[in-house]
Amino acid sequence: MEIHVVEQSVEKTATPALLVTVFEKTGELEGAAKAADKILDGQIKALMDSGEIKGRFKEYTILHAPRAPIERVIVIGLGEKAAFTADRVRSVTARGARIARRIHLSQLTVASSSQGGLAPEVWAAAAVEGALLGLYRFHKYKTGQDHANHAVGRLVLMGEKGQAGALNKGAERGRVLAEAIMLARDLVNEPAATMTPSILAAKAAQVAEELHLGIDVLDTDRMEALGMGALLAVARGSREPAKLIVLRYEGKPGAPVLGLVGKGITFDSGGLSLKDADNMFRMHCDMAGSAAVLSAVKAIATLKIPINVLGIMPATENLPDGKAYKPGDIVTSMTGKTIEVLNTDAEGRLILADGLAYARTLGVDALVDLATLTGACVVALGHAASGLMGNRQEWIDEVKAAAGEASEKVWQLPLFDEYMDQIRSDVADLENTGGRPAGAQTAGIFLKQFVGDTPWAHLDIAGTAYIEKLVVPYSWQPYLPKEGATGAGVRTLVRLAERLSDEKAFRALVGKPAAARPKGKRG
Ligand code: BES
Ligand code: MN
Ligand code: ZN
Repeated sequence: MEIHVVEQSVEKTATPALLVTVFEKTGELEGAAKAADKILDGQIKALMDSGEIKGRFKEYTILHAPRAPIERVIVIGLGEKAAFTADRVRSVTARGARIARRIHLSQLTVASSSQGGLAPEVWAAAAVEGALLGLYRFHKYKTGQDHANHAVGRLVLMGEKGQAGALNKGAERGRVLAEAIMLARDLVNEPAATMTPSILAAKAAQVAEELHLGIDVLDTDRMEALGMGALLAVARGSREPAKLIVLRYEGKPGAPVLGLVGKGITFDSGGLSLKDADNMFRMHCDMAGSAAVLSAVKAIATLKIPINVLGIMPATENLPDGKAYKPGDIVTSMTGKTIEVLNTDAEGRLILADGLAYARTLGVDALVDLATLTGACVVALGHAASGLMGNRQEWIDEVKAAAGEASEKVWQLPLFDEYMDQIRSDVADLENTGGRPAGAQTAGIFLKQFVGDTPWAHLDIAGTAYIEKLVVPYSWQPYLPKEGATGAGVRTLVRLAERLSDEKAFRALVGKPAAARPKGKRG
């Protein structure tokens, strides 16, 4: 989609569709909506007065203008003014773009004026994200021209005099973020047959080449040499070779390094502890953590955020086979800790144990991992929020703040010491499952055993990374798909990188003061 910024008044605009927004309960029209009302001979105001347009969030009305050059006006509600956020701009622009596609329009013009006091740059980013994400579909395997046609080819952001610079800047940021999120969605939606660990590694290599990032892909021989017995145990049942993908972005040499670790199970059958059919077919989504990390690193590098990031993606299939690891096996992780495997379906924590340990050997100063880790997290929080856990409250709060600013819901779950009792083994150091109680937290506290004293946060995205048809309805955002991968975590990670690009703040958070100046040079 082409994105254009214009400084123009509604009166001088020619477009097949102009999107304007109204707040609920104010009874007043502002800015572009007011100007559009004039062109429509007062129809918007009349419909508001009669109650047909209430301005409720996401409510829409299409009005046809009696005379060109604006052919129609799409009025969308923003809800109450007090509840206004940039995320609502994302939503209403997504809705507008979907309406435009449904009625086969090739262009949509969105008016920026009077958007509840948002800075033009913030508004533009949210609008562009909304339009691109709202129009996203995973249709590469559908035949028939209907799916390829009717693209809304052009989005015009209409601002007031003097806003073009800020709008262009915001639009560019929005485009980069949306494209990263769509990349994550594409990777996750791709069936397991065509998204193997090797293919994921090739995708990472492609991103590395485009953006001149460092890349290292460890094969099983190197993992063996490093003693990654937990990751390799999971990989044993698969004919597809496991890969440990490492992407390195150096945006500020000398500054601390943010380590992002993503679960990359390209298919989770459960292994010998086999899942049933209803719980298996969606498990190509089990590399969503890796997809988020890969996509976030891409966006961070594209935006040239001044920070250093390592993206670490342990990738393998989890399949049953004559060579597969078995319930009862005891495996030795890279750290030397031994793990009794009670259930081969608790494989995510095994590959992350070695992924996190390896990240630490590469010299990261703080860690965030993302993983579709537990069904228990879905039971606890549904599809509304990701579970957030960690080993240091200041670091957890930082991730929470980034998620809030990115409009991605997270909810902290406690890692009480008591949960350790559930994963202690009689025959090894740890068990890989803690039974049914507090399943998300016992998985979290398992991971905690592998991060030492490095500040670490864990996001369980099992409920948020993928939308099932059956659970869509509640508070659905039009920039999310009705079914399939969401790209959860990408916006949070990019926002986190932006926050941590304040080197002093990052150093303070991770307890790593800048090196003292050499003696004798003072004063
Ligand atoms: N990949 C699954 C978790 C999952 C469930 C992701 C639903 C997305 C949606 C994970 O590997 C798994 O199977 N976890 C088990 C752990 C149990 C055996 C301790 C689970 O949650 O049942
Ligand atoms: Mn599993
Ligand atoms: Zn899994």
